[in-house]
Amino acid sequence: MKRYRYGLFFLTVILGAFALYRCFADRCPDHKEPESVRIGITLYRDDDTFINSICRILETEAKKYEKTEGIRMILDVMDAKEDQNTQNSQVDRFLALGCDVICVNMVDRSAASVIIDKAMDREVPVIFFNREPVSEDLNRWEKLFYVGANPKEEGVCQGNMIADAYDACPEILDLNGDGKVSYVILEGERGHQDSLMRTEWAVQTLKNRGVDLEKLTGGIANWQRSQADALMGQWLEKFPEQIELVLSNNDDMALGAIDTLRRLGIIRPVCVAGIDGTPAGLDAVESGFMLGTVVIDRETYGKTMMRMALSLAETGRTPEDISLERGAYFRCPSYPEIRKRKDEAPETGKIE
Ligand code: BGC
Repeated sequence: MKRYRYGLFFLTVILGAFALYRCFADRCPDHKEPESVRIGITLYRDDDTFINSICRILETEAKKYEKTEGIRMILDVMDAKEDQNTQNSQVDRFLALGCDVICVNMVDRSAASVIIDKAMDREVPVIFFNREPVSEDLNRWEKLFYVGANPKEEGVCQGNMIADAYDACPEILDLNGDGKVSYVILEGERGHQDSLMRTEWAVQTLKNRGVDLEKLTGGIANWQRSQADALMGQWLEKFPEQIELVLSNNDDMALGAIDTLRRLGIIRPVCVAGIDGTPAGLDAVESGFMLGTVVIDRETYGKTMMRMALSLAETGRTPEDISLERGAYFRCPSYPEIRKRKDEAPETGKIE
């Protein structure tokens, strides 16, 4: 009986203390619970080199904020495995978990309205990234944003990089000396804004710079190294002597073309140009296998995106110092990285 009384006494003290604490917490506006921010991130596919590297930067940034700001950061990262229905369910899950912000790398960029409806319903801001929804969708609400590359700028940069090399030494591109540069093009995805704009502007820039171009063929390799390798194999069978330049919408596909050239031991120094500046792409430039790449500043990409997400979660607005095109778009800067000796023949055919 005595034990029971003690138990009751302690329970009353604990409940009393808790009630006092709640009362203090409610009345005192300065009182803060340890803050926590929950961000849901869904990727069109987790094994895409570029997307994967952006995701790693987001995770690193979140850890930094945890340390410096004392905020508990919870990142829920999910792979949609190229299935739009799976991605829609992942967004449902994020909303059920109470995410403060959702970051979406759309599987099908034309299907954003379903996700936007869900987010608007629950008033949760969305940052789309890398796969840009159509502007009609993004304009539906002021809490919808896009972070991505600047494909026109990258296409122009790729074109200029090649034209510079041509001006410095036409023979490295015009291998048979017929006055024309015969090229093949590896494209990312049919409906992807980066793919369409990079192709258009790289070719247009080369033409504007006075390089006489001849397109031999082109094809979609879905941004992937192995698919590009397979396509390049077919093209080399069809045009064994003619290919002088491989234009690629990203580095992974450029590396795929280089894989083929090296495997077949092609001695003719075909120029290959990429975009992204992935570590493997930069290595290929450094070692002379790639003519050049356009480096997308991934640190700025990931850091800006994380700052936007955090600020949206905490204040409902994006940071004042991040200037957004039309109030919603952040386009990441890029710069060219070209083989050191532009006038030297590339080493695509070299076998180690
Ligand atoms: C990148 C590619 C990537 C694609 C995925 C592009 O912006 O350059 O490397 O595979 O986005 O959507």
